[in-house]
Amino acid sequence: MDYIYLDDAATTRVDDRVKKTMDEYYNKKYGNPSSLHRMGKEAKKAMKNARERTASLIGADSEEIIFTSGGTEADNLAIKGAVEKNEGNHIITTEIEHAAVYNTCRYLEKKGYDVTYLGVDEDGLVNLDEFEEVMREDTVIASIMYANNEIGTVEPIEELAEIADENSSSAESSAAAAEEQNASVEELSSSAQQLSSLASNLSKVVNNYEL
Ligand SMILES: Cc1ncc(COP(=O)(O)O)c(C=O)c1O
Repeated sequence: MDYIYLDDAATTRVDDRVKKTMDEYYNKKYGNPSSLHRMGKEAKKAMKNARERTASLIGADSEEIIFTSGGTEADNLAIKGAVEKNEGNHIITTEIEHAAVYNTCRYLEKKGYDVTYLGVDEDGLVNLDEFEEVMREDTVIASIMYANNEIGTVEPIEELAEIADENSSSAESSAAAAEEQNASVEELSSSAQQLSSLASNLSKVVNNYEL
């Protein structure tokens, strides 16, 4: 049956360049990067290279790059990691988050955290003044998506990160659905930015950076 696929923002065909590069590691250099033998060392070197190239794409240090199985794992790691590491009982997110963030916040709410779910305007955008108003001294993290996976709205992430930074709060942004990734981690200062580790999504970002 012929069909037209219109869900590329959710996931898309793996880029041929990614397939070609990965083929070698699936079939020949498939050692565990923690193993001390030659194949392990080769895999470790490839991981180091991939980490450095990914870091340079988003203006981060390579030690700041953590590869995950996908966006849901990355969101969980960033949000739960922030509340574990920092003191505070308040989390800010929005009513339009992907289930990866929304369900993590609901889970933490059950654990006793206070969560503010910000609404959005008719264009699907978070209001910056409202965001600043709900910031509290005990706000431990703000998690607001970069691009909405259903309506395509791109949130003002740099301005939101600046407000979070001024209030000494961490910011996390789900960028799995972002076709273009312009803001660098350096510019977003305290924020943790998660790119889906899916090669398909990453290849979209790579395309934009013309590697
Ligand atoms: C904004 C956003 N966050 C998180 C996710 C979850 O990513 P994954 O499906 O890789 O777990 C998605 C997936 O589309 C997404 O669009």
